[in-house]
Order: sequence, then structure tokens, then C-alpha cells
Amino acid sequence: MGNTAKLVLDGKELQLPVVVGSEGEVGIDISKLRPQTGAITLDPSFANTGACESAITFIDGENGILRYRGYDIADLANHATFPEVCHLLIYGRLPTRPEREEFRMRLTMHSLVHEDMKKFFEGFAPSAHPMVILSAMIASLSAYYPEQETQEEIDLNIIRLLAKAKTLAAFSYKKSIGQPFIYPDNERTYLENFLLMMFGVPCETYEVNPVVRSALNKLLILHADHEQNCSTTTVRTVGSGGANLFASVSAGVCALWGPLHGGANQAVIEMLEVIRKDGSNFQKYVDLTKSKDQDFKLMGFGHRVYKNFDPRARILKEAADEVLADLGVDDPLLDIAKRLEEVALADSFFIERNLYPNVDFYSGVLYRAIGIPTDMFTVMFALGRLPGWIAHWLEQRNTPGTRISRPRQIYSGEQARAWVPLEER
Ligand code: SDX
Repeated sequence: MGNTAKLVLDGKELQLPVVVGSEGEVGIDISKLRPQTGAITLDPSFANTGACESAITFIDGENGILRYRGYDIADLANHATFPEVCHLLIYGRLPTRPEREEFRMRLTMHSLVHEDMKKFFEGFAPSAHPMVILSAMIASLSAYYPEQETQEEIDLNIIRLLAKAKTLAAFSYKKSIGQPFIYPDNERTYLENFLLMMFGVPCETYEVNPVVRSALNKLLILHADHEQNCSTTTVRTVGSGGANLFASVSAGVCALWGPLHGGANQAVIEMLEVIRKDGSNFQKYVDLTKSKDQDFKLMGFGHRVYKNFDPRARILKEAADEVLADLGVDDPLLDIAKRLEEVALADSFFIERNLYPNVDFYSGVLYRAIGIPTDMFTVMFALGRLPGWIAHWLEQRNTPGTRISRPRQIYSGEQARAWVPLEER
């Protein structure tokens, strides 16, 4: 591969530098294009455009490879703890034993939220979706922790965000069911505390089911990062303007909420319920996706990057079988999901478009099995994605020469025209 690409425009020849990544990915650097030609490139939804160089996550969409800081997702899902993966993504390496204990202790000691923040929950409608609460409460953390100049202050805010987001998420669930908030217990681990705050009640001792804890650990790790997806791009964009960590991540929560992105896990379960109530008529819904006059998509299928399979979906499908068997849960939606996958993957429409199950297709069945309510599914995605958002915000902040994100456009509107007085319009 040469180190330049030749562009010929209006008879003028331009040599553009070529960047090759550590895994051989090739990018044409067009950062000097407009000053030298007056032209820009046009790539709606940025499907062919790299926004940055990043050392955090590598995805090979053609071969179904996903690695966090070089570690394969299957190894991490099977052997790591979620706090270890948080440390890996944010600081670039797995913690030593002392570092792991210190990181965990700091997460534990910052699990509480300021008592005044509890009053915020009284202002939300009982029917408020927990994603709007999570986004608002994460942004509100910047009202209590405004400092973010020194690395020490930033590291502390990272701990605060990781530790308090799960508390705020659990509080939003308790609010939705009218139960009292449960406080974290410093003797419990990160995940055990989340489960306690979600499912514990004041009048009982809450015992964590190890199968549930292990499934939750795997779910959060599988969602922890995914390079420049919609919500991470949002976090980087907001952070590029100098906005603080809490504001940038709050914007990421909103971006994740969309049904084409993290909101898909909730939409998948709702879709499977519809199919179940419709006599599990799979072919009817596969055919619906093919009809041009219907805007119906099989939620949980397809991906911008994976054109073979999403490794996370494979891991989650296996985990769903294991966890439901261990818990003695018989969820008809799992069988429906498997049959739907079979029917879809035998259909030329899906084969031609490389549409396979993505991370959201099986995750909802697992969340249901461990007791998470459907409207909390995307909150769970957000809790998993927190370390990824934080890592990208920090990487961008620490990259010399980073400029505010500000794409250009091709104007397609009216040309200059004279003012028209009201009586002449
Ligand atoms: C996530 O980017 C990430 O990394 C995201 C994520 C992460 O970890 O951050 O992986 C998490 O968001 C997973 C995706 C969750 N969303 C869904 O499951 C919603 C359903 N999927 C689609 O909306 C779609 O596949 C996307 C949004 C995932 C990808 O959209 P693209 O890349 O813009 O693809 P496209 O819409 O251009 O589709 C290409 C073709 C089209 O058909 P034609 O116009 O060529 O005839 O495939 C069709 C689409 O209509 N298609 C589908 C489909 N997905 C794409 N048809 C039916 N059902 C689907 N699910």
C-alpha cells in the first residue's frame, strides 16, 4: 500500500496522505483537501469516514472480531470482571491485583449519590422512561462535581460516574415501581450492589444468585465498548467542545436511546411478543421486512460494521441457553428468537444484505431471565457502555491537536433572493 492516494479534480492532481492502522486498516487523510481544492467529501451517516484514530477497540466486521485494547471479547466475557474491563478500556491495561482492589474500593466508596439528588426523582412523572431519568441525573452530577482540570480530578469524576450511574439506574427502577430506594452495601461488589439496589427490599435480606451475577457481568462486558458507534460519536462530539465528562456522557445516553441503536434491545422483546401473540408466524414478519411499502425491520438484526456475524450475539445466544437452564426459566421468547433467526438466515433478502443477529437480539431474553424489566434494558446497555464512553472522552481529551468536531455540508437550498414585504407574499 503506497503512502499517498492520488486525487484528480478539475484537472488538478492532489496527493493525499494514507494512514495505515495497527491492524492494517487504511484511511485517506483528507484534512488538507478543502484548503487545497475548495472541495469537501460527502458521506452522509459517515459510513465511509473515520472521525479519529483510536487505540481502544478494534472491530473486524468481515470476520466478526471484537477486541478491547487487544483482548478478544470472548476471553474478557469468560474470564474478566466488569470493573477490570472498565480499568482496561479507560486506562489501557488490565489492573494488577493491588490496582484492582484499589479501583474496586474507590467504586464502592463513591456509590452513594448526594442526598439532595433524591429530590430530583420526585419531579419525574411515575411513567417516565428510565433513560430520560438516567440522562438527566448523569448531567446533574456536574452540578455537584464541577471540577475537571487536573488528571486527579478527572480520575475521581470517572470513579464517581461509574459508581453512581448504577445507583441512579436502580433508584429510577425503584421509583417506577413505587418502592423505597435501597442504599448500597460496602461489603458487596459492584454488581452485587447493583442487584441489591434493584431487587432488595428493606424488610428482607437480599441474597445474590451467582448465576444472575455471572450473567450480568457478561452482559455488561459485552456492551462495554464498540468504537465509533452513534452514542460514542456523540460523546466525543460533545466532549470536543470542552464539555465536562458528565454532560458528554449524558448526551451519549440520549443517543443510545434510539430504537436503531441501544433502544433495539427493548424493541426486540416487544417484537418477539407481537410475533408470539400472532401464532409465531415467523415467515409473515420476515416477509414484512421485504415489502417496500412497510417500514418494518427485524429489530436486533443487521449492523453497520458486522457483515458476517456479531461475536457478541453468538456469546449471548449461548449464555441465554445456559442461564435460563441454570435458573430453571422457560422463556418462549428464546425459542421464538432462535426460530426467527433460522427463518431469516435462510432467506435471500437477509443473506444478500448480510443481516445477522446483533448484540441486541438475544440480550433482552437474558435481561428478562435475571429479572430486569423491559424498559430498563437500554439503561443496562448504557451501564455497560459507560467505560467505553469514558475511555473515548478521555482519549480524545488527551490527544494533542484535537479540535472541536464540526463537519461541513453541501448547501442545496435557495440561492440569494430579495426580501418580499408581507403584502406582496
Ligand atoms: C447497536 O454501531 C454500533 O456499533 C452499534 C452497536 C454498539 O455496540 O454500539 O453495535 C449497538 O446499535 C446494534 C444495532 C441495533 N439496531 C437494530 O437492531 C435495529 C435494526 N437494525 C437496522 O436498523 C440496521 O441494521 C442498523 C441500524 C443496525 C444498521 O443500519 P445501516 O448500516 O444504515 O444499514 P441500512 O439501514 O442501510 O440497511 C441496509 C439494507 C437496507 O435494505 P435496502 O435499502 O438495501 O433494500 O438492509 C436492510 C435495509 O432496509 N436492513 C434491514 C434491517 N437492517 C437493515 N431489513 C430488515 N430488518 C433489519 N433489521
